[in-house]
Amino acid sequence: MSQASNPDKKSGNRLSNRDFLRSFVQDYKTVGAVRETSRGVAKRICELANIPAATRVAELGCGTGPITEVILEQLSPDGLLWGYEVHEPFADYLRKTISDSRFQLYEESAANIVQHRREHQLPPFDAIISTIPFSYLSHTQSTELLNAVIDSLADDGRFVALQYHPTYLPPLLKKHFDHVTRDIYLWNVPPANLFTATVPRRL
Ligand SMILES: C[S@@+](CC[C@H](N)C(=O)[O-])C[C@H]1O[C@@H](n2cnc3c(N)ncnc32)[C@H](O)[C@@H]1O
Repeated sequence: MSQASNPDKKSGNRLSNRDFLRSFVQDYKTVGAVRETSRGVAKRICELANIPAATRVAELGCGTGPITEVILEQLSPDGLLWGYEVHEPFADYLRKTISDSRFQLYEESAANIVQHRREHQLPPFDAIISTIPFSYLSHTQSTELLNAVIDSLADDGRFVALQYHPTYLPPLLKKHFDHVTRDIYLWNVPPANLFTATVPRRL
């Protein structure tokens, strides 16, 4: 099996902060952050999602892949990771920099995960990680995405969402999950709210 291979990242040459910022300026509602997530936050997210114990993982909004990279480092050799990314320059970057047979990139909205899982007859995911900026979406779009998460997550699965807006997502999560916790990671610019939701409620 080919593991994550990434010449650009190995040489420390990730997409520059300036390029990331340019994407934010072009499409701030979709991109939702001025820079990519730090490695420290990515590791904390993977810990909350319990990636080493997972077989099937989905990442909604891979961006330039800082969390994708840590997931692939921790995921078992026979695991799989479905990644969703709608911003074309980021999807191009992911295609060029991640070569790992466990990783499947979908360059379309994460809401399509339901249809993809049905087409592939894939059992539900053990962990779903999202950095999609829910607070910039309409209520209808947020609900559509959360319904897709509920449909796709195993009963004992974990949904972990990074949000910079501290109060938008929790009420929605509490409607859809029995258990929701919040961590704040201060060593990120800006500080990151990490919400972990378990026990999905099938309404
Ligand atoms: C805050 S950025 C985080 C990017 C990256 N995961 C990171 O941590 O640096 C959110 C990402 O979600 C993507 N995104 C937004 N809406 C999406 C959707 N409906 N489906 C898939 N990706 C989406 C954006 O293009 C952007 O790359």
